[in-house]
Amino acid sequence: MPKSKTFDIKTFDIKGVKVIQAPLAGVSDIVFRGMIRKYGSNCLMTTEMISSEMLCNNPNPRIIQFEDFEYPLAFQLVGHKIDKMVKAATILAPFASMIDINCGCPVKKVIVSGDGSAMMKTPELAYEIVKEIKNATNLPVSVKFRLGMTSDTQNYIEFGQKMQEAGASFVTLHARTRSQLYSGCADWQKIAKLKKELDIPVFANGDIKSLDDVKKCLEITGADGVSIGRGIMGDFSLPFRAQKYIEDGIILPEPDLKEKINMLKEHLIKEVDFMGERNGVKFMRKFYNYYISTVRNASKYRSALVQYENKKEILEALDEILSLHSSN
Ligand SMILES: Cc1cc2nc3c(=O)[nH]c(=O)nc-3n(C[C@H](O)[C@H](O)[C@H](O)COP(=O)(O)O)c2cc1C
Repeated sequence: MPKSKTFDIKTFDIKGVKVIQAPLAGVSDIVFRGMIRKYGSNCLMTTEMISSEMLCNNPNPRIIQFEDFEYPLAFQLVGHKIDKMVKAATILAPFASMIDINCGCPVKKVIVSGDGSAMMKTPELAYEIVKEIKNATNLPVSVKFRLGMTSDTQNYIEFGQKMQEAGASFVTLHARTRSQLYSGCADWQKIAKLKKELDIPVFANGDIKSLDDVKKCLEITGADGVSIGRGIMGDFSLPFRAQKYIEDGIILPEPDLKEKINMLKEHLIKEVDFMGERNGVKFMRKFYNYYISTVRNASKYRSALVQYENKKEILEALDEILSLHSSN
């Protein structure tokens, strides 16, 4: 079981949430979430999606490791069987600020069984799951979903209304369809449409990669806050800067290359400490594009960085990139 927490659930005020760290399976582990806190944000964190089936079979998976500093922390569940979802939520409830239901995952092996975005085809089932989890846990429940399965079957408004009726505390809309996967642009106008139809808060998700995007997205959508995923992958300060902007109107500068490289070095060192050199070095390969995107010849450097097998070589290569581009 996860270790017990000293966090007082009653101190979590859902109305104060303006920024959410969007769940990123295989990315937003405990180290990632720790880095967000280190860079100042007290945003709502979300775990990577947790399979309700897996949790019911084995209530001690590595994925549900967490620490007190992470709170407020939503546990995200994926699944479509009411009894399994309720049981999984009940296992997590003593440790959770709230439960988030994944109705947006587009991955084939997830949707074939009716999970993730396939839940948008069965709004009645999603309704029952939200209602039953609320009843069983007494926790706030949120739902993250897409525009629909395909461009011709977009049912995000009806689906959002149904989740509101079921008692969801808020919804997060990733403004793409399932068939788009991650291609094209998130359609923020659709978030504006949903916002007009619901009384509960709506969080905007999709392609919010900078403070400028936060501003534009909120202007276009009128959403109650933002849910940021990949934008954090090369800049752990983004949730804090987003919060400062939303709460106080303050625009803090984006980190420069030196700050980003220092962030990347710290991230690498912590992941290696957490998962060991071999796994940590491999894990970090998915982040280089994001961190060094502003560097000239970024793809050349990325290709070199992903070849290294140990931390020392990577740290040296990063110092070299910095010395060659110190005016960036
Ligand atoms: C690598 C990766 C893993 C993801 N894992 C999850 C997940 O576990 N649960 C979920 O609801 N969404 C997941 N998503 C979707 C994101 O939370 C988010 O909706 C999407 O990336 C769009 O937002 P962004 O442009 O801010 O990244 C994942 C996305 C990526 C790229």
